[in-house]
Amino acid sequence: MTCLHGRHTEPVLFRELTGDNWTLADYMTRGGYGQIRRILDGRMPAERIVAEVRAAGLRGRGGAGFPTAVKWGFMPKAHAGQTYLICNADESEPGTFKDRDILRYNPHAVIEGMLIAAYAMGITAGYVYVHGEIWSVYERFEEAIGQAREAGFIGKNLMGSGFDFELHAVHGYGAYICGEETALLESMEGKRGQPRFKPPFPAANGLYGQPTTINNVETLAYVPFIMAMGGNHWAALGREGCPGTKIFSLSGDVVFPGNYEVPLGISFAELLALAGGVKGGRKVKAVIPGGSSSPVLRGETMLRLNMDYDSIAKAGSMLGTGGVIVLDETRCMVKSLLNLSRFYRNESCGQCTPCREGTGWLVKLIERIERGDGKPDDLDLLDSVASNIQGRTICALGDAAAMPIRSFLKCFRQEFEYHVEHKQCPVASGGQA
Ligand code: NAI
Ligand code: SF4
Repeated sequence: MTCLHGRHTEPVLFRELTGDNWTLADYMTRGGYGQIRRILDGRMPAERIVAEVRAAGLRGRGGAGFPTAVKWGFMPKAHAGQTYLICNADESEPGTFKDRDILRYNPHAVIEGMLIAAYAMGITAGYVYVHGEIWSVYERFEEAIGQAREAGFIGKNLMGSGFDFELHAVHGYGAYICGEETALLESMEGKRGQPRFKPPFPAANGLYGQPTTINNVETLAYVPFIMAMGGNHWAALGREGCPGTKIFSLSGDVVFPGNYEVPLGISFAELLALAGGVKGGRKVKAVIPGGSSSPVLRGETMLRLNMDYDSIAKAGSMLGTGGVIVLDETRCMVKSLLNLSRFYRNESCGQCTPCREGTGWLVKLIERIERGDGKPDDLDLLDSVASNIQGRTICALGDAAAMPIRSFLKCFRQEFEYHVEHKQCPVASGGQA
């Protein structure tokens, strides 16, 4: 139960969760489904809901941080055919494990969030696409949907309002690339999960060619709370102009790995302290602040930063998914990079040559450096291969594979040089990099 350390400073989504109070009855004792009831009973205008979400400053929690109210505004107001709302629960970015805990411990918040979002956009059909390696979460969510349907929160003419909403859970089979929104659509249509060119964006041409909004689990789960508190109040939970709360997944060399729901803009040092600090009282050497796709930063840099979109971007990385990977001073940076690079090579869908071939070359080069066979030119070659992938592919996986290479070289070049020159790791050998 990674989310329930009792160390959250401002829990909203995780408030009062004990680990087994996830059912519809439990959710309703916490005021659950009160917001959709209020909206439907009062025939609340859709614009008012969008205005609250805008006031909250809610940004997409899947990694890109796109403003949610703007995304909802892309949906056509009058469309003759079916439109869709999809909850992207295909979380699989290394270092990121928050959505599965939301689905497991607060599934009805996601369902209510989808109901409100669908009503605001005039959508009558929704799907939740769950990652294919978390079967128990998928089954839990199916059960939650069943409870909501039985209680009359899913189906036709909800609460006598005339609003219809059908919701189904579907699952993938574990491919990382199916979390990319257009690959997800292909997968849902029964095709091979390969990204499409964008534009057109799903808002114009999504599932079965129809306008589709795709939101992350955490994004949707916050919507009922924003409606209950009011957008401005929720925004004020964040620090110094950073709206709201955010769930950070902490992993790596911390004492208590897990999910921490905290004010957006909390300092990294505070967040690290919530997770018990670095194991064994050692120093933070490096931090990957927003899931494996975000560039690595040096520990001393991170200790001066706040955990918000702008601060992390200014330092040269991304807040991304909020999956914070902490590496202590005993970690070899070459091995750490090799681990990440193998992941991207294995998960490339193979559509674009720079990604399909380049990710393999990157792995071969890093393997060579790591086993002590690196050549003096290899570091420049690594950088050159990475720069020939970045910006030259259909989807962001190519960039995600290239960016760690360039950032590891930028922040820890001396350690890579030591490996090449001395044919061994400075950390393991006690040498100076
Ligand atoms: P993106 O920036 O291309 O798009 C963000 C969202 O805004 C998308 O839903 C897109 O459809 C929409 N959008 C953007 N411009 C639009 C326009 N002009 N009209 C209509 N809609 C528009 O980013 P993308 O590729 O969706 O996500 C990349 C991020 O995903 C990465 O930065 C990474 O942090 C994250 N990621 C998360 C993973 C996870 O497991 N949660 C896995 C892999 C990556
Ligand atoms: Fe597939 Fe990689 Fe191209 Fe993305 S960048 S479409 S994962 S080959």
